[in-house]
Amino acid sequence: MSLLDVRNLRVTFDTETGPVQAVRGVSFSLGHERLGIVGESGSGKTMTGRAVLRLIRPPGRIEAEAMTFDGQDILNASERDMRALRGKRIGMVMQDPKYSLNPVMSVGRQLTEGLRLRDGLGRADATAKAIAALEAVQIRDPARVMDAYPHELSGGMGQRVMIAMMLIPEPDLLIADEPTSALDVTVQAEVLSILDALVRDRGMGLIFISHDLRLVARFCDRVLVMYKGLVVEELAASNLLAAQHPYTRGLLNCLPRIGGQRGPLPGLDRTGSWASEGAE
Ligand SMILES: Nc1ncnc2c1ncn2[C@@H]1O[C@H](COP(=O)(O)OP(=O)(O)OP(=O)(O)O)[C@@H](O)[C@H]1O
Ligand SMILES: [Mg+2]
Repeated sequence: MSLLDVRNLRVTFDTETGPVQAVRGVSFSLGHERLGIVGESGSGKTMTGRAVLRLIRPPGRIEAEAMTFDGQDILNASERDMRALRGKRIGMVMQDPKYSLNPVMSVGRQLTEGLRLRDGLGRADATAKAIAALEAVQIRDPARVMDAYPHELSGGMGQRVMIAMMLIPEPDLLIADEPTSALDVTVQAEVLSILDALVRDRGMGLIFISHDLRLVARFCDRVLVMYKGLVVEELAASNLLAAQHPYTRGLLNCLPRIGGQRGPLPGLDRTGSWASEGAE
């Protein structure tokens, strides 16, 4: 049985000028593997991830044929049941950590609070676990970071704190939205190897949202390519760089090449039949 099943998911925003369809019928299933989601800005990657956690705020709304996590119906689950899953069995590393960390609470308190309240750990044990989690994401002075407030952290540090916070409860599913975009390459490699080990050793499922097609091709098992709220192509990550679909090829052609020609970036060709598929 798969860990996550999503059938015909739609996310619609009712705006003053009419409904905006951010996700227009996305289906996928996820096992204990690394699933990448790529696509240009605005293609619906984040909304797909948030919808799985039912974190779409009004005027946005979610519709689907089915959405199940580990056999549990998460489409119709109560808000209370969803709260029990979020941050515990399903974690999400948000695209912008600034909005996910509490600005008026020290990092240490944010990291230990769940351990103390939810798992009933004492202060010393919770602190030791939080420090270990910070060390695991390559933070070298964890004691200082524990005392810091989110605004005192750099972007890359904030991203690592978020990842540490999501990994502490040992989730079964992690949705990571551009989790390493603010990290330099060596730290990025460390963070990816932590995620990789969790998938391999603990059987965690990972949804890895990224703009970086080369990274996804190397790191993930399978990839969904999204365009305008639809999945236009699903393929093995190892085939991503050789994809034949015109939209995916367009994304690949936009990648800068080391030592390549420095011409203007080609525009995406949106003239194929896929470009109007399902459009209103
Ligand atoms: N509150 C809102 N009202 C109307 N439309 C919205 C709202 N929030 C998001 N959208 C629309 O949802 C679409 C999908 O957005 P989403 O954030 O999922 O894109 P994305 O693929 O994650 O992009 P990026 O790569 O820039 O993060 C966008 O086209 C956006 O216009
Ligand atoms: Mg996004």
